[in-house]
Amino acid sequence: MQIQANYPLRNYNTFGLESTASYFAEVTSLTELKSILTDPEWKQKPKFILGGGSNILFTQNIDALVIHPQLTGIEKISEDETYIRLKVGGGESWHAFVMYCVDHGYAGVENLSLIPGSVGAAPMQNIGAYGVEVKNVIESVEAVSIESGETRLFSKEECRFGYRESIFKKEAKGQYIITGVTFILSKKPGLNVGYGDVQKTLLEMNVTDPTIRDVSEAIMQIRRSKLPDPAKIGNAGSFFKNPEISAAVFEKLKKSYSQLPGYPVNDEVMKVPAGWLIEQAGWKGYRQGNVGVHEKQALVLVNYGGGTGHEIKALSERIQDSVKTKFGIALNAEVNFI
Ligand code: EPU
Repeated sequence: MQIQANYPLRNYNTFGLESTASYFAEVTSLTELKSILTDPEWKQKPKFILGGGSNILFTQNIDALVIHPQLTGIEKISEDETYIRLKVGGGESWHAFVMYCVDHGYAGVENLSLIPGSVGAAPMQNIGAYGVEVKNVIESVEAVSIESGETRLFSKEECRFGYRESIFKKEAKGQYIITGVTFILSKKPGLNVGYGDVQKTLLEMNVTDPTIRDVSEAIMQIRRSKLPDPAKIGNAGSFFKNPEISAAVFEKLKKSYSQLPGYPVNDEVMKVPAGWLIEQAGWKGYRQGNVGVHEKQALVLVNYGGGTGHEIKALSERIQDSVKTKFGIALNAEVNFI
């Protein structure tokens, strides 16, 4: 394993932002990872774990040893007529894993097609799309402690999954490297096509009795039509979380904004789409210099090339202020600021 000094990270974050790591190491095995974490010299240095870089906003250089885990492999743990359990290396590409499942007829992750990032990052923020969250199919998460280099297995319950949340973003933040995820997938799929756009797209595709692959195709079509491809325009997907407000506040807002969409979380709480709020506040398609708000999905901030993390951060704060002023709703970032 090579450790490189002053390493450029532009190709390691989907916003395409410039940032330099003091040191950078790509690790491809558990042994390599443990040896670097327990090495007396490196043990003293601050460390930063960088997965697929698809949910990160660099506003500065990283004065640390940046570890880029690339542990790969898909291993069958067990299988019966109904289910299969797979252990997948944290460094596998998320979408490549989804395609593997679609090809083999394993259901459960098809709604999460085309999400950028790695398998190891998926549990970190409990990725979700089109009515499915990754926690639905996770059995356990294997992680290595940065402090001790020891492996720990987190059960699904111990991961404390919530909406774009897990223990790895909260109590255990910065303490573990996710090296593997065990999934339980179904061989007799009950597909989830309840999300409005999915049904509509399947109809347009003339599909009435969808297969796992049909659902995946429909999701990919929707995503391609709304979300910018990070290979072409720098972005990190949804920049903010969809805010939750009380049902009482929702009803009050409805009086002024009759079109306000909302989804009940429980009897007292409603989730409202941040994209709608941002669009209504006039930001959709807004551009300032090299950064802006995507023209087809206002929840996505973009770097057209050459923009900086500071510019994107400043834009995000202006958006937060204007949504707060117009609707009285606070937006919280989903993306991690560094
Ligand atoms: N909307 C607007 N204007 C916009 C964007 C959205 O009015 O510019 C409205 C839509 O018309 C719709 C509602 O907002 O009524 C919801 O929009 P959409 O279905 O596009 O989903 P979203 O709530 O904006 C969430 C996730 C996405 C995920 C989609 C689909 C969050 C923060 N985002 O977006 O996840 O792909 O649902 O399930 O929960 C991500 O996390 O990076 C991400 C892309």
